[in-house]
Amino acid sequence: MNTQWLDLLDSALQREVLLEVIALSAAVDDLSRVSTTAAAVAARVGAIDRCLIHVLDESGRRLTVAGTWPAGALGDLGALPIGAGLAGWVASHGRPLVSVDLADDHRWREFLDGRASPFASAISVPIATRGSAPCGVLEVFTAQRQDFAGSQIECTVGLGRLLAPSVAAARHHQHVHARELSRHRSTEEFIALQESDRRRLAAEIHDGVGQRIVGLTFHLVAAAESLADQPDFAAVQMATARELAELAQAEVRSAVYGLRPPLLDDLGLSDALASLGRRAAGLDVNVRVSELPLPDHVATSLYRITQEALQNITKHAGAQRVVVELFPVGQHMVLRVTDDGDGFDPAAHTDGQGLRIMRERAELIAGRLDLVSRRGGGTTLSVRVPISRPQPHPPEDSPR
Ligand SMILES: Nc1ncnc2c1ncn2[C@@H]1O[C@H](COP(=O)(O)OP(=O)(O)OP(=O)(O)O)[C@@H](O)[C@H]1O
Ligand SMILES: [Mg+2]
Repeated sequence: MNTQWLDLLDSALQREVLLEVIALSAAVDDLSRVSTTAAAVAARVGAIDRCLIHVLDESGRRLTVAGTWPAGALGDLGALPIGAGLAGWVASHGRPLVSVDLADDHRWREFLDGRASPFASAISVPIATRGSAPCGVLEVFTAQRQDFAGSQIECTVGLGRLLAPSVAAARHHQHVHARELSRHRSTEEFIALQESDRRRLAAEIHDGVGQRIVGLTFHLVAAAESLADQPDFAAVQMATARELAELAQAEVRSAVYGLRPPLLDDLGLSDALASLGRRAAGLDVNVRVSELPLPDHVATSLYRITQEALQNITKHAGAQRVVVELFPVGQHMVLRVTDDGDGFDPAAHTDGQGLRIMRERAELIAGRLDLVSRRGGGTTLSVRVPISRPQPHPPEDSPR
């Protein structure tokens, strides 16, 4: 490496520059620190007002300012495409550029694009070892017009070469790190996506086919028990069981294709809820729905939550009457399912999946699920979901 230019500096400064550059070679895991120090070294070498260290990005097509002197003084100068401005020209040609009169330099004027120039003169040099492509550009500016001395130009060019190994190593380190980070992120995103897909499928199977089979079993048992004494009643039970079997088949198809529940597709939310109510075995279900257009995924979730709530009431509550309500409150939609059954302790641990899935479904649509239950006092399950609709004076009370 040609270091004759160092003789142009007094011996104290020579020593200072060399020590700084040696220190840089140990800090290549931090491109910003390397570039900021490099800019400060350049400021020590020449009488300048601003120094920028531009570094080529991984594509080799853009320059980004990685360090400045004074530190943090980015001014108007940000990322530059190769070929644009002074630094872009130097990076693409691999040659130094001295602009004594920036106002006369068309590259600078194009770069400024009508903005006032904060500087009068500049030297831009490649940060590159001899014979290799630049990894960046070192640029120094003066506020007053400068007829740069040959020695200052030589020192700036020499400094660009001296800094090249450290800047190149720090740039390489940053690119490797960024690649690792992005690989790590996409792995995380992929796993999260896969996980949510699995949950969705598990919920589809639990709430869809699972529920149909529970109903199916119920009606088949009833049919078997009444076959001898009440053949007509048994026939009705068998017919319902068959209907449920067909629905289960449709649910499987729906789960496989990630579609919405077939009833919801055919009927819309309010009729689908009414149909759920009619099918709830042994319960008197009153469904009161304020019809409001809801996004598909919200309607699907509310439908699924109602379905599981009714199944729980059928299986566990010993209830007679149930009220299913869906109504707007301010900027929310509220689903409320109330039964007059035995009640239970919502905080008690169970092995069941239904309550957990209902909560997750509510959270996925930015909603909240609340359970109020007392032993012997029935259960009220409510889900509050935000909706967007114009509402000048939101009433905050539910219509109950
Ligand atoms: N409306 C209700 N009335 C009385 N008890 C209820 C009611 N809803 C839920 N429970 C109680 O809460 C428990 C948990 O319900 P959850 O839906 O999580 O599980 P599960 O219904 O037992 O099983 P799974 O839903 O996984 O088939 C139930 O086992 C039941 O004891
Ligand atoms: Mg359940």
